[in-house]
Amino acid sequence: STGLLLDRRERPLRDLRISVTDRCNFRCSYCMPKAIFGRDYAFLEHDQLLSFDEIERIARIAVDSGVHKLRLTGGEPLLRRGIEELVARLSALRAPDGTRPEIALTTNGSALNVKAQALRDAGLDRLTVSLDSLDDALFQRMNDVRFPVSRVLAGIDAAMAAGFDGVKLNMVVKRGLNDHEILPMASHFKDTPHTLRFIEFMDVGTSNGWRMEDVVPSAEVVERISAVHPLEPLEPATLGETAQRWRYADGGGEIGVISSVTRAFCSTCNRARISTDGKLFTCLFADEGHDLRALLRSGADDETIADALAGIWAARDDRYSEIRTNLTPELRAARKRIEMSYIGG
Ligand code: GTP
Ligand code: 5AD
Ligand code: SF4
Ligand code: SF4
Repeated sequence: STGLLLDRRERPLRDLRISVTDRCNFRCSYCMPKAIFGRDYAFLEHDQLLSFDEIERIARIAVDSGVHKLRLTGGEPLLRRGIEELVARLSALRAPDGTRPEIALTTNGSALNVKAQALRDAGLDRLTVSLDSLDDALFQRMNDVRFPVSRVLAGIDAAMAAGFDGVKLNMVVKRGLNDHEILPMASHFKDTPHTLRFIEFMDVGTSNGWRMEDVVPSAEVVERISAVHPLEPLEPATLGETAQRWRYADGGGEIGVISSVTRAFCSTCNRARISTDGKLFTCLFADEGHDLRALLRSGADDETIADALAGIWAARDDRYSEIRTNLTPELRAARKRIEMSYIGG
């Protein structure tokens, strides 16, 4: 079954995000707060994870079905042993028209010093590094494991030395916590090959204590930066992008804002997610996944798996970020939600 898969809102499946581990060496309060992800937290056992063979197989079938971009996430994907081998395998995949899918990876940057070159050599196209602050004390408080910001910055340098053209930087902005770092971050990465993206804090999972008051709307982020470094809007590079792009009027590069709270982008959402244990989720906020691992391990052939993927996508109607604002706090709280470290951002 080759060709474009469209869901009930005519959105194509283009982007597959694959979580390769539910573990992380950071304990960011908005994602894996220590109080919940403590010493006795039950992470998945090894045989529950999709193997590289299984991931490669799903990815190959997805690419055959029209997926253009594969993104490895977690947890922290660089904690998965042999991750560069998986990258190499995915990098060897070809779409029916002979093109190769784009391979990207989202990391906290802590292991880039060690891993950047191997990832590049394996064929990784793009790197996104999470970085919430340049202030070391605040950065250490936010990762909550005393990881120094200098080592993440060194990891970004290592990525450049390894041959990446620049990285994307993800800054999750939480009012009163790191919003005073918006301008220093913008100034620091202006006139560099890197693209800084400001992300509105989202209500993912059930453990991060999200409140609307904590969200700094992207319009405010753009206004604050523009007051010092004037910005101009850019057209989207591709349909279905998460970020709206802005460029510095003086030619100092570009930034992005990801406004899933104040300006939902569900209408063009072309992303599916595979959790660490092989469940397919059609939305970051879906309450249930579809068990592809069971299907794989039952001995199903490629065609059966492709048909299952097509069927799941055809039934898709998700648009959580568009309806969030109409939900009362009670209704929001009652919804079952999946932790981001498991479903993979
Ligand atoms: P690019 O390919 O570089 O545009 O990456 P991306 O923005 O698709 O992925 P990344 O892992 O960098 O995610 C950036 C932020 O956007 C994270 O906070 C994600 O959780 C969020 N995000 C990504 N996809 C979606 C989505 O489909 N819905 C919502 N609500 N948020 C998303
Ligand atoms: N809201 C917005 N972004 C988040 N991320 C993790 N948790 C949240 C949240 N609650 C970001 C990470 C990473 C990306 C994949 O998702 O910082 O950059
Ligand atoms: Fe780890 Fe990223 Fe979650 Fe922080 S946001 S705890 S670095 S997975
Ligand atoms: Fe896509 Fe769901 Fe995010 Fe909307 S909330 S953009 S449907 S993943």
